[in-house]
Amino acid sequence: MSDYLTDFGRPKGTVPPRAALHSDAPSIDLSGAWRFRLNPTATAGDDFWAAGYDDAGWDTLPVPSSWPMHGYGQPAYTNITYPFPIDPPHVPTENPTGDHRRVFDVPADWAGQRVLLRFEGVDSCGRVFVNGAEVGVTQGSRLTHEFDVTAHLRPGAANVLAVRVHQWSAGSYLEDQDMWWLPGIFRAVTLRVRPAGGLDDVFAHAAFDHATGQGTLRVDAPAGALLSVPELGLRDVAVNTDHVLEAVAPWTPETPTLYAASVSTETETVSLRLGFRTVAVVDGLLTGNGRRIFFRGVNRHEFHPDLGRVVPPDVVRAELQLMKAHHVNAIRTSHYPPDAALLDLCDELGFWVIVENDYETHGFEQNGWRDNPTDDPRWTDALVDRMRRTVERDKNHPCVVMWSLGNEAGVGQNLGPMAEAARAIDPDRPLHYEGDWSSTHTDVYSRMYPPPDEVAEIGAAETGLPFVLCEYAHAMGNGPGLLTTYRELFETYPRCQGGFIWEWIDHGIRRGDHFAYGGDFGEPVHDGNFVIDGLVFPDRTPSPGLTELGAVFAPVRLDADAGGLTVRNGYDHRDLTGVTLEWTVSVDGDTVASGQVEAPALGPGESHPVALPHVTHGFGEAWLTVTARLAGATVGAGQVRLHEAAPRPRRSGRRFARNALGPAQFRDGDLVALGGLALRGPRLDLWRAPIDNDIFGPDPVADRWRAAGLHRLTHRVVDVDASADAYVVTSRVAPAGTDRALLATYTWTADDDAVTLALHVEPTGDWAVPLPRAGVALAVPGRLGAVEWFGGGPGEAYVDSSAAALVGRYRSTVDGLQTPYVRPQENGNRTRVRQARLTDPTGAGLEILGHPTFELTARRWSTAALTAATHTNDLVPGPDVHVHLDYGHHGLGTAACGPPPAPEAWLRAEPFDLVVTLRAVKP
Ligand code: GAL
Repeated sequence: MSDYLTDFGRPKGTVPPRAALHSDAPSIDLSGAWRFRLNPTATAGDDFWAAGYDDAGWDTLPVPSSWPMHGYGQPAYTNITYPFPIDPPHVPTENPTGDHRRVFDVPADWAGQRVLLRFEGVDSCGRVFVNGAEVGVTQGSRLTHEFDVTAHLRPGAANVLAVRVHQWSAGSYLEDQDMWWLPGIFRAVTLRVRPAGGLDDVFAHAAFDHATGQGTLRVDAPAGALLSVPELGLRDVAVNTDHVLEAVAPWTPETPTLYAASVSTETETVSLRLGFRTVAVVDGLLTGNGRRIFFRGVNRHEFHPDLGRVVPPDVVRAELQLMKAHHVNAIRTSHYPPDAALLDLCDELGFWVIVENDYETHGFEQNGWRDNPTDDPRWTDALVDRMRRTVERDKNHPCVVMWSLGNEAGVGQNLGPMAEAARAIDPDRPLHYEGDWSSTHTDVYSRMYPPPDEVAEIGAAETGLPFVLCEYAHAMGNGPGLLTTYRELFETYPRCQGGFIWEWIDHGIRRGDHFAYGGDFGEPVHDGNFVIDGLVFPDRTPSPGLTELGAVFAPVRLDADAGGLTVRNGYDHRDLTGVTLEWTVSVDGDTVASGQVEAPALGPGESHPVALPHVTHGFGEAWLTVTARLAGATVGAGQVRLHEAAPRPRRSGRRFARNALGPAQFRDGDLVALGGLALRGPRLDLWRAPIDNDIFGPDPVADRWRAAGLHRLTHRVVDVDASADAYVVTSRVAPAGTDRALLATYTWTADDDAVTLALHVEPTGDWAVPLPRAGVALAVPGRLGAVEWFGGGPGEAYVDSSAAALVGRYRSTVDGLQTPYVRPQENGNRTRVRQARLTDPTGAGLEILGHPTFELTARRWSTAALTAATHTNDLVPGPDVHVHLDYGHHGLGTAACGPPPAPEAWLRAEPFDLVVTLRAVKP
């Protein structure tokens, strides 16, 4: 019978949930090679759990695993839509079912001891048999379940564990998170001895009083157990009572001090790492150790491009270190509890963590929320059970700052019992849930993707709960823009306590030389690349969005103002002791002086001017750049211009004769050669390969761009005037079928070795749409593969995402300028470029000088090819390098989910000028 599949998500046969504990009681890790077969339905081959069943013909599969990542069935991606009919609690008859078997030995000396079988994650539902006897059913994919298997085990002999895992169960209705559907036993399976008189559960409460510096420690544990914290002088003291400790070092994300503790009975010792901290809502603010909490957070899913939901421990540690290096101080475990080991690492490395229940029913919204489990008493048991499992397992972690009831599950009668269940276990931690804007059951007001003006309005309101953006700055594709804008709001309004970027990682699945997304596995219903919306690529290499985030949230702020640079301590809990300020003075990008000073020991929030070095810097463009470092890591950077460059001379003097002007050859108004270097263009161009923020959202600007024909401009030379000192080409640039146009006047002047183009553009007609980009495109030979520039860098930057770009001299290659967004789109812009060179291996090539600056992109494919590509392997290098020299770009914004660029980052169709000098350089 498969009634358990439709029993409104209730697990069966489990023992009560308890804390994840590091115990010295014996245990066996059952990870490894298991026998596996995949059935098309839930009930095929009903006999496989018998101890004597012959599984010799089955395949082997690693456990933990997501079986579609190992060639069984296919991954499938939907965001909101359920991939099966909404017919709760029923699931389709076609229900991929993975039968798993594993033979294991149990030591003879386990005889007579109580043993639990523990599953950390089974997606979506596992029916468990030990030596042929059914012991129960898991429900709640990302939740821990334990079964008492004492009666079924054979110590001193071989035992058989058989687990039937169904992709779909009633619980699938509760797990409509925006991610791949990936069934499997994807977290550890262990056997654990529970010694008589042992410590089934322990709950450590370690509070910190910021006024007195005292810690208070109480450990709830079975009576008679003894507690030791040697560093604090506690040896074998009583549990279940308060111990007041004079002068403990508090735990904060910036100072994650942990004290090793142990709790012992005669039969078992549990090791704990205590962090003393108090989280409380005080006067409308969420505080940690008495200070306002400021979440510089990310939403983290568990994802691996080759393994699916299985993330190896070394990968997790490295990704948390990457977050720390980019000044992320908080994680929301969207939208389910993570592998328990994550929280150990967050305690150790220092993050505030919102642990979210494994609960989302977003797809019911498409049904007008009809039959939503949140408001249906038939689901109450399952929902309360999920909440309990969430809180019980992770309650000992200082990093856990709040519990979240779930994500996007609407409102209804079950929220109350869920919240009560959480508070009954842990009255000390605040509750979060974004789905109910009345905040009836929560301690913070949480919203996702509010635009900046709404955040300001909420911030300015006189009363209310602490305000948190559980999601904002949707990091899909190129972006997000607006990070600085949001940070300023969080710094302006105390009540706006920061938020969590959506999201940490692109969930692209590796397929040969590229990453796949929704629809690539033949899913009949899918949401395409909406699953590719992270700050890091699927292989966890940082995207420019993460670099930007790192600059925006760098704790040592070096702000340029009229008087020079001001250093500000943006840490919440620590002073600047140990921070070194390394400075350089550069002239035209070349370093002329450098040194270092200790930062003043400013407390949190304090600022102080930085004394500027007195350096003679000649006549070029001089910059002071200061980088703050702490223990080898960059914790801040800032720049101030000490001296502006004199305007560059525009080249002139030569007259136009026989299609030539100085070193330049023209044909039909186009430049075709420069001092022996073949090139084509430059021509006015407005198109960029739309970024995801141009394409998605309620009113995609890319639709308006296409409707306006900006991707198919035609050029008509109106006039060529070679009579004066300049060669002047007037062009009317317009898309077919409209009378909207841009009049472009290209005024060329030259001297012996360079030409200067002064482009003036005047829109005519109705231009309600902003422009994607505005500038010129030209093509140069592909051998010009080396790039050097003096301008913003080293990475990609756009008008509303340029906090990380410092003015300097940088070297790269055309290939190195590309950002491999999983779905190809506009990328790689280098901003405020004063001068650039594209050269071949001999050093010959093209130099471009700005008057004063231009935006630069260069790539081995055309913008049309970039626009047409759907995956990175569609981008095939051609014979040319396509160079764009732009006056400007439309901002990035975060409209794929959230607001468009701020008004000042719009590129409106207005008259503009772009002036550049081009020179062929010799080796
Ligand atoms: C939110 C949701 C996330 C994700 C995001 C869009 O509504 O909570 O899970 O779907 O939108 O990428």
